[in-house]
Amino acid sequence: MRFPKDFLFGAASAAYQVEGAWNEDGKGVSNWDVFSKIPGKTFNGTNGDVAVDHYHRYKEDIKLMAEMGLESYRFSISWPRIIPNGDGEVNPKGIEFYNNVINECLKYGIVPFVTLYHWDLPQVLEENGGWTNKKTIDAFERYAQVCFESFGDRVKHWITFNEAVVFCSLGYLTGAHPPGIVNDVKKYFQATHNVFLAHAKVVNNYKKLKQYGEIGITHVFAPAFSVDNEPDNIFAAKHANEYNTNWYYDPVLKGEYPSYVVNQLKEKGWLPDWTEEELEILKNSADKNDFIGLNYYQPGRVMKNYEPVVECEHTREKSTGAPGNASFDGVYKTVMMEDKKYTKWGWEISPEGLLDGLRMLKERYGDVKIYITENGLGDEDPIIEGEIVDIPRIKYIEEHLKACKEAIKIGINLKGYYAWSVIDLLSWLNGYKKQYGFIYVDHNDNLNRKKKLSFHWYKHIIETRGEEL
Ligand code: BG6
Repeated sequence: MRFPKDFLFGAASAAYQVEGAWNEDGKGVSNWDVFSKIPGKTFNGTNGDVAVDHYHRYKEDIKLMAEMGLESYRFSISWPRIIPNGDGEVNPKGIEFYNNVINECLKYGIVPFVTLYHWDLPQVLEENGGWTNKKTIDAFERYAQVCFESFGDRVKHWITFNEAVVFCSLGYLTGAHPPGIVNDVKKYFQATHNVFLAHAKVVNNYKKLKQYGEIGITHVFAPAFSVDNEPDNIFAAKHANEYNTNWYYDPVLKGEYPSYVVNQLKEKGWLPDWTEEELEILKNSADKNDFIGLNYYQPGRVMKNYEPVVECEHTREKSTGAPGNASFDGVYKTVMMEDKKYTKWGWEISPEGLLDGLRMLKERYGDVKIYITENGLGDEDPIIEGEIVDIPRIKYIEEHLKACKEAIKIGINLKGYYAWSVIDLLSWLNGYKKQYGFIYVDHNDNLNRKKKLSFHWYKHIIETRGEEL
């Protein structure tokens, strides 16, 4: 079987991780520009000031993408490049940059798939409470509107937010991401609600413009599975899915929050401040959402937790809920299992987990249209005689694409796959040593680009539409 004609083979990036030019051409300061410079926050103090200089080299990069046969490029727009202080003047140079990127994609027939928010919030808004402040919702609506009006004639695929669970939990529970707040559960849930509301409002606005494109949201998808058949552990996995999956997809796809979580939040005093009117907006926008994007890296292997919740290290790998740690509420813990395979960073490699997770989503949400908006292997790539022989990455993507094929066969409405990432980039807290790309960037030689083995492999997969998989 070949992948269907309307299935998009793509690859992705995000503004802060590739662009650099952090203070050029009128760009405002983002929360990440500030946070990454706080001593001890990132690996070796790395930051995205220069990143891989995509801002100046986008033409070269998109040319390489075209050579790889990429059908679609998922990238994000940096909000502070468009509206430097979050809610004030629009920066014409920012608009010009993304016009250039979009036009360059279209020149080669590459479909631009655009994320509005991939974590880089204008610092001014962060200082005023970030996603816990409802004014950020209004500012986001305005920013989104500027983007639709400026680029919507050519961009027909929009993602509002990337992974609310990650930027809210790392931002307000573990402090690993900005604003670096630890253990404020109330703020965590407030931020998630504000994000869902912002999403709903922006979806409504987009539909009113009648630009005839599609709009959805992307979440990190880490379906939880019990480690065994013990009822306590099965219950723990259900609890994890309620908090990490249903809490994130229900408000978007069903227009209401899962009652299991709502009841517990009420009891514990963690319920976000919301109004009837806001809940009504969620309800009325659910059927306008066109798709969901899944960033799938790994499932969670879950069991009941009996130990007290200890203060976690402030890294993504060691955060609450990551393998080896209890959830923030102490109900379950995620564990590493002997019979599973893991990456060097301890992330489980499980294509079966993707397929089982997709089945789970189909059961709850029916035939919703799905894109895998990220999936890939973070590794330190071997270099042999000057060639980057990233065979583990090829294996990883191959196995996950096979799972996608299987998913289509069993009737899951899967319409595209975006490998993470198109090019080596800044891995937030891990600097540049955790590589994900098809294109290598030489940090010892002027950030020169080089094709990896996986580049040629993915080109072949796209050309043959995955027939051999
Ligand atoms: C996703 C993000 O959570 O995972 C990406 O959307 C990120 O931006 C990717 O790079 C991999 O995570 P990490 O921490 O390995 O870079």
